[in-house]
Amino acid sequence: MTKIIGLNSNVFLAPMAGITDYPFRKAVANNRNVNLFSEMVAVNAINRKNPKTYRIADVRNEPYPVIVQLVGNDPYLFSEAAKLVADLGAYSIDINMGCPVKKIVANNSGSALMKDLCLAGRIIESTVRATPLKVSVKFRKGWDNESVNAPQFAQMCEASGASFVTVHGRTRAQGYSGQADWDIIGKVKDAVKIPVVGNGDVSSPPFAKQAMEKTKVDAVMVGRAALGNPYLPGQIADYLASGIQSAPVSAVQVKETLLQQLADMADYYGENMAVAISRKHVCWYSKNFRDAKRFRETYTKISDYPTAVQAINDYFSVQERG
Ligand SMILES: Cc1cc2nc3c(=O)[nH]c(=O)nc-3n(C[C@H](O)[C@H](O)[C@H](O)COP(=O)(O)O)c2cc1C
Repeated sequence: MTKIIGLNSNVFLAPMAGITDYPFRKAVANNRNVNLFSEMVAVNAINRKNPKTYRIADVRNEPYPVIVQLVGNDPYLFSEAAKLVADLGAYSIDINMGCPVKKIVANNSGSALMKDLCLAGRIIESTVRATPLKVSVKFRKGWDNESVNAPQFAQMCEASGASFVTVHGRTRAQGYSGQADWDIIGKVKDAVKIPVVGNGDVSSPPFAKQAMEKTKVDAVMVGRAALGNPYLPGQIADYLASGIQSAPVSAVQVKETLLQQLADMADYYGENMAVAISRKHVCWYSKNFRDAKRFRETYTKISDYPTAVQAINDYFSVQERG
């Protein structure tokens, strides 16, 4: 296994804004061998010392390495933001050059940078020079099907000083729909010497293994399949190491994970906000359980913490007996 910037695992949890916060990272990391990303952090907001952004970037209290991801369009602001996140405990810095969201690309940030290799290169160089931390880049297959340029883009990242790259096998035009193109991910791997992380539709241990064998990428990154299933990245890591599939997770384990995540959210955000934020997680966690629709309808109406804890307990306990 190639050790990517000293990290012990060849499985990454994808950065997901609004999802991969400290409580969710903790649920994924729970004694498992997975590399973690923060949510994306806007360079202008962190340089303005926006309190919410600052908090997202502050990973000093976490016992495992966290890669902090920056998004923006200005090389100088990236260098200043890099220094700040280094002080806030980032293990390394990732640059978002793949975000498809209109507001971000309208600002010449995220995946819009795939159309401006010159600016993208200056951003990477400026970030690399700013701190001793390693810098990586996450990008897509290309802007659209007429401008697929992931292999050339990866070469530009390598020449600009990136330590590794992650490629999501969809174009910006695709957003999150359609299938990820693992052939282009293989072409990126062939195009550069730095490690490559493949991303897109990794949904099971066998999928991850086959994708790695086919493309020779050094690692895989798991995004949406980890929603409500924080065990998956660790199960993939175990399977890649041993070839043995983990036993299915029981309703008791799901209940305990969810209650712990809710408690961690309460510590981190306060009880009321924790309950509000937990609604989407509860929907995901209950996806494959009986009477999920009714439970979700009930849960989304709950606004106080003790009732939320009780509802989760009641719902998953019945699943255990059923
Ligand atoms: C809700 C959501 C938020 C995301 N936020 C980010 C982000 O902050 N930074 C980033 O690089 N990618 C972000 N992504 C993209 C994922 O990291 C990943 O590239 C994408 O979901 C494809 O992987 P998947 O098919 O395994 O989900 C986000 C995706 C989702 C669904």
